[in-house]
Amino acid sequence: MTQRVALVTGAMGGIGTAVCQELAKAGHKVVAAYHPQFDNKDEWLKEQAAAGFNDFVCVAGDVSSLEDCQKMVAEAEAAAGPVDILVNNAGITRDRMFAKMEKDQWDAVISTNLSSLFNMTKQVSAKMAERGWGRIINIASVNGVKGQAGQTNYSAAKAGVIGFSKALAAELAAKGVTVNVIAPGYIATKMVMAIKPEVLQTIVDGVPMKRLGKPEEMGAACVYLASENAGFMTGATLNINGGLYYQ
Ligand code: CAA
Ligand code: NAP
Repeated sequence: MTQRVALVTGAMGGIGTAVCQELAKAGHKVVAAYHPQFDNKDEWLKEQAAAGFNDFVCVAGDVSSLEDCQKMVAEAEAAAGPVDILVNNAGITRDRMFAKMEKDQWDAVISTNLSSLFNMTKQVSAKMAERGWGRIINIASVNGVKGQAGQTNYSAAKAGVIGFSKALAAELAAKGVTVNVIAPGYIATKMVMAIKPEVLQTIVDGVPMKRLGKPEEMGAACVYLASENAGFMTGATLNINGGLYYQ
């Protein structure tokens, strides 16, 4: 296989870590983009090294800042070369019923989960098109597909991720660059563990497979979407949710 350079945002979170590991196992050079306020970077790198992943390049920046994204991609290119695979994975929740939701909770989720796609993708998509090869993989959510009470902000942002991806896929289809979405169901990471236990139990009870997804199951899907064999797939959304919802 051809070794590619893959940049993953939110790389040190639950799904991000698994995506980095699976892409590295598939032979890619991985750039781990992390939030500058994350203060366990050295510990994370030690854990990765202990697991046999010694080769991650790290770049820090806030994905809701266009300036930070320009800086992160410039650093990634200097350290690893042009970015061939971009995984827009960084995300947050600020769950609240709409009646009680504050404007700052709306803005934080839209800027981190949706405007980040403009900020990051803008840095790499034209260059991918010039080189005639690229993979853009955006992490949405089952709750962007079906809507979830308590998540008007998050469901709107994640539905926006899907719309963005379909539109950009159409623009780049003839240029060798694919744009696809993974819409995970409930996955065992700290984002889900923040849900009140009794609410989470009800959610898991409603999943036909009666379990949370594993981060590595999302990583494996990324490896597929990044592969040569996925070259005919674009504008698609992979729903990986234990049977919770079908489109
Ligand atoms: N549908 C409709 N109404 C609901 C509801 C539901 N699923 N859940 C609660 N309500 C109603 C309640 O009946 C209540 O109504 P009344 O005021 O008339 O009695 C009202 O909403 C308030 O409910 P709560 O007491 O539960 O409100 P709260 O402020 O304690 O909690 C919440 C609100 C934080 C949103 C909580 O309900 C919650 O955590 N819900 C789960 C949301 C969720 O699934 N988040 C996913 C996070 S992980 C993630 O996002 C990853 C991913 O992509 C899958
Ligand atoms: P996570 O463990 O909380 O990871 C999220 C990562 O994003 C963290 O590393 C976080 O860094 C980073 N991040 C947050 N805000 C950022 C910002 N402004 N700039 C840069 N990085 C930022 O959650 P996860 O479950 O792995 O989520 C990864 C993605 O999957 C998210 O987009 C999420 O919406 C999506 N998703 C998750 C689930 C699920 O059930 N877990 C389901 C569907 C979709 P800090 O921790 O340092 O802030």
